[in-house]
Amino acid sequence: MSNYTLHYSSITKKIIMSLVGLFLITFLFLHLGINLTLLEKFRPGGSTDTFNIAAHFMGTNIVIKVFEVVLFGGFLIHILFGLILQIQNWMARPARYKIEGWSHTSPFSKFMIHTGALIFIFLVIHLLDFYFKAKVFGDIGSVTIDGKEYHDMGALVLAKFQSIGFVIFYVVLFIFLGFHLHHAFQSAFQTLGLNHSKYTPFIKGLSTIISIILPVGYAIIPLVIYFNS
Ligand code: HEM
Repeated sequence: MSNYTLHYSSITKKIIMSLVGLFLITFLFLHLGINLTLLEKFRPGGSTDTFNIAAHFMGTNIVIKVFEVVLFGGFLIHILFGLILQIQNWMARPARYKIEGWSHTSPFSKFMIHTGALIFIFLVIHLLDFYFKAKVFGDIGSVTIDGKEYHDMGALVLAKFQSIGFVIFYVVLFIFLGFHLHHAFQSAFQTLGLNHSKYTPFIKGLSTIISIILPVGYAIIPLVIYFNS
């Protein structure tokens, strides 16, 4: 393959990665919103009913089911293309493939493959613990809400976060997720050519806000569960 072809196929992969990455960030907000309903349990007289109903809706609604296929496919494409680009980058040393620009000045940009690998390991453990345990292995209790039976996903999450090791693992991972997102969000706009001296500072600011809001929002869940159970 000529350098020219390689260069352009790399850019295509980067564009696809960026679009998929922005979609994955949307998922992270949706997932966080649903997970935060778990905290209702810690209000006086509270329960995990809203969370269980939301988790059930997520598992049965046809639109969400299609979304789930796109989501898993999105994760795979993002990981695969990220790996290929990184390997190409390593092989092209010292004349590395590089797009000059402000997003590459971020110290987080140097560790995208490392933080990405940690998130991947987290994802495998996370899916085995929750998603596959409930959906594939059926290894989960049930609860009746208003006469209807639901998977007791809430009890599963509450039980998991009784362990301090598990809580620390999650919180540390969320910090790395923040590092990954801090560069990822602004870099996606750069790759898509949506950088402009007027809007770039806004996108950079938004990137910082997202990289704080999402990890803090996610970390609150195991911490509240652990310290209130
Ligand atoms: C405190 C943090 C989190 C909690 C309590 C949590 C909890 C859960 C639970 C209970 C499920 C199964 C839901 C169901 O099948 O109905 C699930 C699924 C999933 N989680 Fe998480 N999660 C957390 C953070 C994350 C993060 C940070 C990511 C991504 C980096 C993630 C990615 C996923 C994915 C891809 C699925 C499968 C798709 C889905 O069911 O929506 N989760 N999570």
